[in-house]
Amino acid sequence: MSRNILLGLTAIAILVSCRRDPDLPDLPGTKTQFKATIVNPADVFPESTFGMPSLPIDNPFTVEGIYLGRMLFYDPILSFDSTISCGSCHSQKNAFADSKPFSSGIYGFGTTRNSSSLINLAYSKKFFWDARQNSLRELVFEPIQAHNEMAMTLPVLSQKLAKIPRYVAYFDKAFGSQPNIFDMSKALELFLMTLVSKNSRYDDFFPGKFSLLNNAEKRGALLFNGLVNFDASTGLTSGADCFHCHGGALAQQNNPNMGGIANNGLDANFIDKGYGGITNRAMDRGTFKTPTLLNIAVSGPYMHDGRFTTLEQVINHYSDNVQFQSATLNPMMSAHSNQQLKLSAEQKTDLKAFLLTMTDTVFLSNPAYGNPFKK
Ligand code: HEC
Ligand code: HEC
Repeated sequence: MSRNILLGLTAIAILVSCRRDPDLPDLPGTKTQFKATIVNPADVFPESTFGMPSLPIDNPFTVEGIYLGRMLFYDPILSFDSTISCGSCHSQKNAFADSKPFSSGIYGFGTTRNSSSLINLAYSKKFFWDARQNSLRELVFEPIQAHNEMAMTLPVLSQKLAKIPRYVAYFDKAFGSQPNIFDMSKALELFLMTLVSKNSRYDDFFPGKFSLLNNAEKRGALLFNGLVNFDASTGLTSGADCFHCHGGALAQQNNPNMGGIANNGLDANFIDKGYGGITNRAMDRGTFKTPTLLNIAVSGPYMHDGRFTTLEQVINHYSDNVQFQSATLNPMMSAHSNQQLKLSAEQKTDLKAFLLTMTDTVFLSNPAYGNPFKK
């Protein structure tokens, strides 16, 4: 059969399958009358800074959809006993991370990993520390149903939503539908994608306007963006090579093969297998999603288990304590030639000063991301 005939047959098959039976009731979200106000993605994403992310084609940005997602994010009714919202573990002032190493879910249960910051997620293709999720829309069902987070069942949740007048009104406005969990996940996806941080001094500096930095920050920027290079006479390195994994405008490598998922030398023996627990491959054991460093000053404690409370402790790890015997250590960490960086006290202070330029106070206090139920 020629290619054209095949294409033609496919087109007919699609047409047939799309023809709607007039006797069938509307499925959720399929009403033809679409009342929502479209938002131009260019107004959400700073193309000049980050470029345009690839966006889901079946979930356009709308004012009503984003607002519905924001309400749902902050509404504890998403949990079984109506006590825990997404915002309970993801707080705006902490860049949507939690200030505790582990978060408290329903009935006082705790999470087994540190709550992630939620920043520029539209540019990420893998989610969670173990990179097990590819889709924000599907991701939201995980915390909702996890027994130690919100412990909710989806049928009960759609019943709960349907009883609340503001959701009856907003699902209709946003999707032309009755409250239902599919459109709920689309609304949450929209809200999560709007959490864009682009106003830190790092964003102004990137990719090299050194004139905007003070002297300590400049030295820190050179360490951060420099290759490890020991000076034979002083024994000091001129670079600490952070940029390979945390570089670029997003301060995060998203390509899993280029440092986007890595073992940064925290442990020689892994309690948490990370990505290896998902793939079951030995080479992935102890590797984790590389987090963005934007807003790092406020998103601690740090690492997948929140083991470090301060940035000094993080810097001490990279400087003095990398576990070179760790089987899956990322090659970019062993670019240290199995030699600790041994940064001087001044270099550590400089590196920290540069990390502090990544704080975006506009993001942390943007009223559009705040709890809509708190006036
Ligand atoms: C009880 C605390 C808790 C609640 C409630 C919670 N989360 Fe999380 N969230 C976490 C933890 C812990 C992680 C990291 C889990 C992991 O990596 O295995 C996380 C990770 C995430 C991530 C991944 C970010 C990334 O860059 O990989 C997203 C997105 C997210 N949560 C969104 C939500 C949404 C939306 C809700 C509400 C439907 C929610 N969370 C409810 C604790 C919570
Ligand atoms: C080989 C890639 C790689 C390099 C190089 C690297 N990191 Fe990381 N970084 C990671 C990974 C992966 C994590 C998460 C590890 C975990 O939690 O198990 C991380 C975590 C962090 C965190 C904690 C983030 C959070 O939200 O908890 C900070 C801060 C950090 N790195 C700073 C640095 C600095 C500063 C440098 C340079 C000295 C550096 N990193 C070099 C991969 C890297």
